[in-house]
Amino acid sequence: MKRGAMKVLFVASEAFPLVKTGGLGDVLHGLPRALHGLGVGVRLLLPGYRALLRQIDQVRILAWFDVRGAEGPVAARVLETRHPGFDFPLWIVDCPPLFDRPGNPYLDVTGYDWPDNAERFAVFARVAALLAQDAHETGWLPDVVHSHDWQTGLVPAFLADLPVRPRTVFTIHNLAYGGHFPHGDFLRLQLPAHWWSHEGVEFHGGFSMLKAGIVYADAVTTVSPTYAEEICTPAFGYGLDGLLRSRRHKLHGILNGIDTATWDPAGDPHLRANYTAGRILPGKRRDKQALLERFLPAADDAALRAPLIGLVGRLVEQKGIDWVLAAMPPLLAETDARFVFLGSGQSAYEQKLTRLARQNPARVFVEIGYNEALAHQIEAGADMFLMPSRFEPCGLNQMYSLRYGTLPIVFKTGGLADTVVDATEENLAAGRANGFVFDTPDVAHFLGAVQRALALYRQPSQWRRLQQTGMRHAFDWRESAGHYLALYAADSAGEPHV
Ligand code: ADP
Ligand code: GLC
Repeated sequence: MKRGAMKVLFVASEAFPLVKTGGLGDVLHGLPRALHGLGVGVRLLLPGYRALLRQIDQVRILAWFDVRGAEGPVAARVLETRHPGFDFPLWIVDCPPLFDRPGNPYLDVTGYDWPDNAERFAVFARVAALLAQDAHETGWLPDVVHSHDWQTGLVPAFLADLPVRPRTVFTIHNLAYGGHFPHGDFLRLQLPAHWWSHEGVEFHGGFSMLKAGIVYADAVTTVSPTYAEEICTPAFGYGLDGLLRSRRHKLHGILNGIDTATWDPAGDPHLRANYTAGRILPGKRRDKQALLERFLPAADDAALRAPLIGLVGRLVEQKGIDWVLAAMPPLLAETDARFVFLGSGQSAYEQKLTRLARQNPARVFVEIGYNEALAHQIEAGADMFLMPSRFEPCGLNQMYSLRYGTLPIVFKTGGLADTVVDATEENLAAGRANGFVFDTPDVAHFLGAVQRALALYRQPSQWRRLQQTGMRHAFDWRESAGHYLALYAADSAGEPHV
């Protein structure tokens, strides 16, 4: 390793609080900050979306580049700025034709992928690769470039072609999103011809930016140990399991942490009352009341006593929303539970949930959309949290739930399997249990887990133990950041991967 502090350039398409569509944004907030705290020199490179540029003032122009776009050269400026959410400089690729537009980073207003996504993220990756070589002599040369998900998969590929270069780490946050584009885009973007092979980026006649990251990075990580195993199997591999098996030597599963300052029941400003593991009840009950009152003008005692089951998330097949919908009729008929759902995604799910709320106004509360404050209020005010994902690379919501004493009900997969310990007799006796896990992916087993949770809810002292076990667990980024640091250092020293 070089002398002095290690330098890492993070390259990503989102980072909370500037831009976030899911857990990726949370990770790009927590991990770089944790590494900075460990003495690593950090820069974070993000695309200059319109909504992001509106949140920053004070910028300095760090570099200008003309890079190849789809129709010819594209001019991009790199801005350096500071933001209170980060204690190190942010670098922003300002390229108005590609990023100055309204709405979601990846989707247009109708919910479809931006038609020029290949160009947008190829240009972003080219700029990242130039910065990583300090092509513009900014005076900051990283030892490691750490890029995330398909949007930045071309970064290690561009760097792999250089004789002298930083080491590259590529993290898969979700293999379901591959960044697949047609061969025409490959040609138009003038991507290096030697990448075009099965050993390179080619994928079913087109090319995959995610595959590029896997093939060309020095180390590949994913966000939980169980998911690292799962993606090497056909059931979870999206056609890349063979490639991943052949790259097992450089594949690592490192569990995400959570931002324990933003997600802290003891200090959360979004809550009516704060609480701690040592004294849960009065505060959490007031938060439940506040949550119910948001949807019910008069939340009576019966509503307050009944179990309240929450769900926050993207409304997509991955998250098992169809299992939840299928389980609702028996849950409404046979139990007194109340439900609160917050999410957005596929319109069929949005409509079904909205209809369910309309039909059961006293028991099912639904907000369609993205609402950071309400997400916190559900984590605090609910008694249980549903996360029956079919697959879940890591999942942050179940960790937020554990920290808020809201017992998660999860399918045994990915990061859910690595963080939630089922309330079996044995785990209860050992004081390890912190939630409810079902291990067969269907509605009946999901329903069984909810019913087990509802039964235990009627035993307050047992329930309290589970809550405390979850709340006392350390979920912060320190441990994960340490694993990344070890990986960067092993890479820099050229040591074999473990
Ligand atoms: P994924 O990244 O697959 O969506 P995670 O559990 O890793 O799942 O992270 C989801 C993150 O997005 C959490 O911080 C969660 O609170 C947030 N989130 C998802 N949907 C919403 C929503 N509708 N409103 C507010 N926050 C949301
Ligand atoms: C992805 C995954 C989720 C993970 C998040 C952050 O969006 O779906 O499981 O927690 O990335 O790594």
